[in-house]
Order: sequence, then structure tokens, then C-alpha cells
Amino acid sequence: MLIGSKLYYFDEIDSTNEYAKTLLKDAPEGAVILVDQQTAGRARFGKKWFSPEGGLWMSVILYPPDHSLIAIIAGIAVCKTLHMNGILTGIKWPNDIMLNGKKIGGILTEVIDKAVVLGIGINLNIRKFPDELKDTASSVFLETKKHLEKKNVFDMLCRRLDECYRLLREKQVRDLLTEWRHYTILLGQEVIIEMLDKKLTGKVLDISNDGALILMDQEGKIQRVVAGICHLKQR
Ligand code: BTN
Repeated sequence: MLIGSKLYYFDEIDSTNEYAKTLLKDAPEGAVILVDQQTAGRARFGKKWFSPEGGLWMSVILYPPDHSLIAIIAGIAVCKTLHMNGILTGIKWPNDIMLNGKKIGGILTEVIDKAVVLGIGINLNIRKFPDELKDTASSVFLETKKHLEKKNVFDMLCRRLDECYRLLREKQVRDLLTEWRHYTILLGQEVIIEMLDKKLTGKVLDISNDGALILMDQEGKIQRVVAGICHLKQR
């Protein structure tokens, strides 16, 4: 198995993604950095990621042929792992792992030359969130009252990631996108996508072979969105 062939484990570190970047020259592909807590966990768009003990915080070093679907395969692997534990999460494009309408996990991919650092955070057994996150974030424990053993979830996740990554390297994109469609909560939904310079409202039709979201906008035009923050439109 490639993913987890080498493991760097720490009690505490600033951010597993930052640490992974310092290892790029030495660590083999598939190396995993796993920590109990992060003091400066990072989310997308320069935001902080709340990372106390109880969560699963990890990064993987990869050298994929093409990096566009890495966040997509990570979302599939996380959902598969949690579904196998009876936790019915969904994916909100591009990389939010959702449970009961709240975010319980996220994925941060960073491309450095030919390498991709794939950071995955799952709020497994966190019991309390700061006030500013309470309305939007939660944990597996708070939503289901189930305590999942972190070590088991980690082992299962490495296996699922390994399977998905192999499919990606074998260019089995159609199979991967079929899995993504199974887990996403967005198909057919009205969404607002916040991009750097504009907002786009539309209905989600599909995902493209390179991981872009395909929408029909309010004028009936087909739009392709490669990056942004996705909000489900309130009815
Ligand atoms: C997001 O939803 O914006 C992405 C969150 C990614 C968090 C994980 S936790 C492990 C890895 N190390 C980090 O500093 N961030 C990612």
C-alpha cells in the first residue's frame, strides 16, 4: 500500500500540511503526517482550522500525474470510510464533508512543483466548538453520539485513499466520478458560488472530468466553476 507506507506521528504540531512541505525532499510518495492536535491548523482561503485533540488531522505527500482530482478522491475516501462506520456524510463541492447540514471535515490540497500535499481534517470526537463555529461546524460525536476510534478510522481512510489514488493513476476517472456523484449532496440543488470577484447562482448539474462544478445559471446558460465557496441556496 502506497498511502501510509511511511508515517510521521506527533502529539502536537502547527499544521500537518506545513510539516509535510518541509519533508518534500526526503519523504517518499504516500508518506503520511498524523497528529493529535494542531496549534495552527489551516483551512482554505487562508482561514484557520480548529484542530484540538479528538479530531483526525493528517496530510499525505503525493506525486499525482495530474492534481485536479486529488480533493475529489479525498472526499470520496473520507465519505466511504465514515459510511463504513455507519456515519452518512455527504460531500459539498469542492471539499466540505457534511453531516446533518454541518461541516464535520475539510480537505486542503497544496501544489508545490510536482508534489501535492493533501491535508484532511475530520472532526471525529470533538465535544465543543468555539461560538463562532457552532452554527456551521460540528463533529461526528456531537451529531451521532458515536465515539469512533481514531486509529481505526485512520487505517480505514488510508486504505480507501490508496484505492482511490490507484484508480486516479490508472485514469479510471469515470468510476471515481460515479462514486463522487453517489456521495455529493449537491446534484440538482440551487447554489450560490462565491468566487474571488463575483457570485454565481445556479442549479448543480454535474461535475466535470477535471473536478469543476457544472451549473445551469439563472439565464439557463451552462457554467463551469473551478474554484469557489459553495453555499446551498435557502428555499
Ligand atoms: C477546509 O475545509 O477549508 C480545509 C480544512 C483542512 C484541514 C486539514 S487538518 C490537516 C491538514 N493540516 C492543516 O493545517 N489543514 C489540513
